Amino acid sequence: MVLSVFALASASAGAVEAKKVDFGKLADGTPIEAVELSNAHGVSARIMNLGAILQSLKVPGSDGKAADVVLGYATPAEYLAKPQYFGASVGRYANRIRNGQFTIDGKQYQLARNDGPNALHGGKRGFDKAVWKIESVKSGEVASVTLSHVSPDGDEGYPGKLSVTAIYSLNDNNELRLEYRATTDKPTVLNITNHSYFNLAGEGNDDIMSQKLTIMADTYTPVDKTLIPTGERRNVAGTPFDFRQPVAIGERIRDGKDEQMQIGRGYDHNYVLRGPAGSVRPAVRLEDPHSGRVMELLTAAPGVQFYSGNFLDATVTGKSGHIYRQGDGLCLEPQVFPDSPNHPDFPSARLNPGQTYSNIIVYRFSTVRH
Ligand code: GLA
Repeated sequence: MVLSVFALASASAGAVEAKKVDFGKLADGTPIEAVELSNAHGVSARIMNLGAILQSLKVPGSDGKAADVVLGYATPAEYLAKPQYFGASVGRYANRIRNGQFTIDGKQYQLARNDGPNALHGGKRGFDKAVWKIESVKSGEVASVTLSHVSPDGDEGYPGKLSVTAIYSLNDNNELRLEYRATTDKPTVLNITNHSYFNLAGEGNDDIMSQKLTIMADTYTPVDKTLIPTGERRNVAGTPFDFRQPVAIGERIRDGKDEQMQIGRGYDHNYVLRGPAGSVRPAVRLEDPHSGRVMELLTAAPGVQFYSGNFLDATVTGKSGHIYRQGDGLCLEPQVFPDSPNHPDFPSARLNPGQTYSNIIVYRFSTVRH
């Protein structure tokens, strides 16, 4: 009797809720569902079965008021019509592959070139445009949704039938954890990540230029004019890429002397994270001095792409009616390095039958007062 009362009390203290809801339709009539995860501290996340997309993420500021800290659209149809990869699960290969070509065991593969001469973000119809299956929805001390997607052999030119799961979970410590897992029936290459655009002031509220960024990286991978890594790992010291200490994002973004800044139109570069890939470790910290919101990103991935929203050009209107302009959100995409299949000295993107791929990302929220 005593035991069961105790069990009840502890369950309600730490209970995090998961709820499935209808979330409109695609233009062809396909119904879309979403799962909302919410905890007692006012943190809530909405994940769609379309693209396993993080459609909304509400987090309180130091005044206790919640704001939605990710960019996105109000309706699922817009995600297909105007792809910016807002909140999307990107694959099979997030980021770029030179000329859309790679070789596995002597056999060459050609992907669609959908970004100038290169392949970008899984091709014409990547994981972000697929309707995933909601496998399970759980409430409890940790609430979660598990989504799955099967990409057939040859899909978008990639070899092997790939079975993918995305597990989003929210706990009582304001941590949203995301894990991608995959298995294949033939050797293949992959790089699955989440492409959320964050703005800790709240989407549509100002740009991200005064927000302070720290990246736990001593080097980054400079790129050529088509944003493919040259192969160099360049020290960040003495460059606008140095975020080893917190720096306001806008402080050095207009550095016209830095050739890499010109090529990227700002930041659009992969950082080589400190510490051993494969173990979840702190990678990035972002702080909004005005709202007091802080996001720490932890990951097991070897790199993180920092993209300062350079291609947001006021041609799309977000979910609460605001036009998104350049720098209104930033992406932090934990991943293997871009074009890894063509760089034998980069961490490998190869997956063999019998192995399980995993990419773990933790977004941890808190607040500071100034
Ligand atoms: C990534 C790329 C950018 C851009 C965006 C999508 O982060 O690195 O260059 O293509 O996706 O707009």
